[in-house]
Amino acid sequence: MSLKTDYLKILKNNQRNSGGRFFTLPSSSYYPHQWFWDSCFHSIIYASFGQFQKAEDELKSLLAKQWENGMIPHMIYLNDARFDEDWGTNQMTSSITQPPMIAYAMEKICKRNKKFVKDMFEQLEKYYDWLYDARSEDYLLSIVHPWESGLDDFVSWDSVLCLENPDKKTLADKKRYLLAEYVKTGHDSRRFMKRNLFNVKCLVFNSIYILNLRSMVTLAKVLGKNSEQKYQNRLDKTIIAYKRFFDKKTGVYTTFDSNGFVKNNNNFSVFFPLVAGVLTEEEAKGLVTKMKTHDFWTKYPIPTVAKTDKSFEADRYWRGTVWININWFLCKALRKYGFFEVADEIKKKSLELVKTGFYEYFNPITGEGHGPDDFSWSGLVFDM
Ligand code: GLC
Repeated sequence: MSLKTDYLKILKNNQRNSGGRFFTLPSSSYYPHQWFWDSCFHSIIYASFGQFQKAEDELKSLLAKQWENGMIPHMIYLNDARFDEDWGTNQMTSSITQPPMIAYAMEKICKRNKKFVKDMFEQLEKYYDWLYDARSEDYLLSIVHPWESGLDDFVSWDSVLCLENPDKKTLADKKRYLLAEYVKTGHDSRRFMKRNLFNVKCLVFNSIYILNLRSMVTLAKVLGKNSEQKYQNRLDKTIIAYKRFFDKKTGVYTTFDSNGFVKNNNNFSVFFPLVAGVLTEEEAKGLVTKMKTHDFWTKYPIPTVAKTDKSFEADRYWRGTVWININWFLCKALRKYGFFEVADEIKKKSLELVKTGFYEYFNPITGEGHGPDDFSWSGLVFDM
């Protein structure tokens, strides 16, 4: 059987219909709900397989649970599911968001079915306008919880949370505490941001935001919407503001909060300006040279943390392991900048990884898979 046939079986097994909504679980063995950026990736995968109906349904089911204020929650619970956390809401959703990949996913569909995107566009605008109204400070967006980054236990949060080499439990307790404090504000992002408990300008989140603002401009244009100019202005201003991520001291773009740049920037996020597409050819070349050094060019690239960094852990969740969605982002970006060979190598190595199973994440040195082996977004290898 081919790799793709194996994967299609997994994907099928992860599909659910609930209350008239169709979506795909990240993994039926481990993640029993719908997640926001996962579904965007699933939609991209379906579209790349030519399964456009599923690509549309996956996004439609996200928008069906959009909040009144425009927010799209990062988790939507299955009907009979138990709530793991107290989200401070009686809706069947969480109360925070995730990297805003939905416009990019919609753009893929738009090439095939303009009408669908046209019907959804008002809701899309409502989401991106909520992000801007609730979260932007001088055009860069804040995240209010580590879970919003999609990079749950990432090393960059350590210094923000005043922790040093935290274990899993310490991190989990801290995340629960932050959520409770956010809920106490009645999910009022601005009020919460003022408290500076976790008000982070995440480089990865903002890079993905820029990528998606570009899609919003394209979509508005293709659909003949007069909001095209609004998104174009926002995009231009955000690209200018993005320069604030550049840390002159270390010479790399870095996540920051009100206390300054995070301590740990020796990780994959430094490559995300490629994803934002804001670099000159020369700057991009510099990053690719860095990517190909011993630190990041492991047997199976790209590790989430540099191999020689003291916080690197080859098997730990977002603290050194390889993730296929991150490789997908970088692969796409490298191709855009014309680094086809490097992109092809990442693709080749990613394919080698999933041949052992469609795991959630992998050891960058041995290639050993971790987490569930029926992880839906690992199918992004087919779209590299
Ligand atoms: C983990 C990941 C997050 C993802 C979720 C569902 O929490 O860190 O990015 O959305 O699992 O797959």
